[in-house]
Amino acid sequence: MDSILVRGGAELNGTIPISGAKNACLALMPAALLSDEPLTLTNAPRLSDIRTMTVLLESLGCEVARLQAGRVLVVGTERISNHTADYDIVRKMRASILVLGPMLARDGHAVVSLPGGCAIGARPVDLHLKGLEALGATLDLRDGYVHAEARGGLKGAVFEFPIVSVGGTENLLMAATLAKGTTVLKNAAREPEIVDLAECLRRMGARIEGDGTSEIIIEGVERLSGATHPVVADRIELGTYMLAPAIAGGRVELSGGRRDLVAAFCDKLEEAGVEIEETRSGLTVTRRNGRIRATDVVTAPHPGFPTDLQAQMMALLATADGVSHLEERIFENRFMHAPELARMGAEIDVQGGTARVTGVERLRGAPVMATDLRASVSLILAGLAAEGETRVSRVYHLDRGYEHVEEKLSACGARIERIGEAAE
Ligand code: EPZ
Repeated sequence: MDSILVRGGAELNGTIPISGAKNACLALMPAALLSDEPLTLTNAPRLSDIRTMTVLLESLGCEVARLQAGRVLVVGTERISNHTADYDIVRKMRASILVLGPMLARDGHAVVSLPGGCAIGARPVDLHLKGLEALGATLDLRDGYVHAEARGGLKGAVFEFPIVSVGGTENLLMAATLAKGTTVLKNAAREPEIVDLAECLRRMGARIEGDGTSEIIIEGVERLSGATHPVVADRIELGTYMLAPAIAGGRVELSGGRRDLVAAFCDKLEEAGVEIEETRSGLTVTRRNGRIRATDVVTAPHPGFPTDLQAQMMALLATADGVSHLEERIFENRFMHAPELARMGAEIDVQGGTARVTGVERLRGAPVMATDLRASVSLILAGLAAEGETRVSRVYHLDRGYEHVEEKLSACGARIERIGEAAE
């Protein structure tokens, strides 16, 4: 299995291009199931999660063409030939549940394996299911699968999410586009990925208002057509690479980055003493002298501080001057990077959902292990600032969500390389 070797201590200077958002693309691809005409997605990221979604869609009868070395995806679903999303694919990636709403909306039936828990928490899909029931679906849970039916078609309804769910909002948003009548989603997620999905669905002919607010109104239509849609920039990749010069020092431009995608995160970085400038082509992050200031962070649904940047922020605060508190409010088990960072000399005390981080002057390189996608990149970031060598193993997590991480960082002067199994 590949690992990543980082030799710390180099300042970073240069430009990092930001790719299309993994989590937007994972919702946009299933949207193609809603129409018998092809959906073309440009600015698609080249990641293993996108390949997993491709395999899932192909198993349902879609044709997926990868053009321009995978930057453009054309998903055609003339006919859904198989309405069962198999456990073997769904267990690899929770976002597979997003095929449920579209298949049900288009053909009135679907069978999807339940995803099960994962490294960061139990992560149930009960809200996806309750929402679909509110739209008139009949659900039966058997043998680990959801058997869903709406033979007469889905019907518009008012559904209020008891807690904000990104995936739940996406599934219902897609399903409601073809339901009869009006659907109102209350306490809906406001993430940029939701706005991007709504924008794409509108290009396909859907009638949607209010995306980006907590109340989304969808007027069902008879059919949707094909469309071409550019995937929004990946705000988590953006935030991650903004932290690279913040941790290692230097000045890096993130081309394609937008402050509005990560506003709460930018506020925190500035509070910690990092300079951020908006430029014509993106954002520039500068860290010159002195230590980072300690700051407290609480994760929350958008527009709050994203849970998907909590691990990376912890790597920064590990070297801050003073004590920081990081409170994780979205997932119950998302501090698995803390003991790994501790192996590099970080002082972190986790009590329930809060981590108390006492900044140290310097981290020291160590062999560490990635436990999930964001944890793995937090260890790479920590390695950039550490004395000596950090070797991150289990990097298949990284490849799920970061395209060419070694190339992007080494282009700015980082000493980082991938070590293949054969070389180990
Ligand atoms: C999306 O997951 C992202 N994944 C996650 O990114 C991200 O961490 C998360 O949103 C929160 O921002 C994709 O977009 C593919 P949720 P999702 O439904 O949709 C609970 C990454 O690193 N909940 O908003 O699964 C749930 O357990 C990943 O790229 C229910 O209780 O997240 C969690 O505590 C990891 N019942 C909270 O709600 C439900 O039916 C928010 O989950 C659904 C969710």
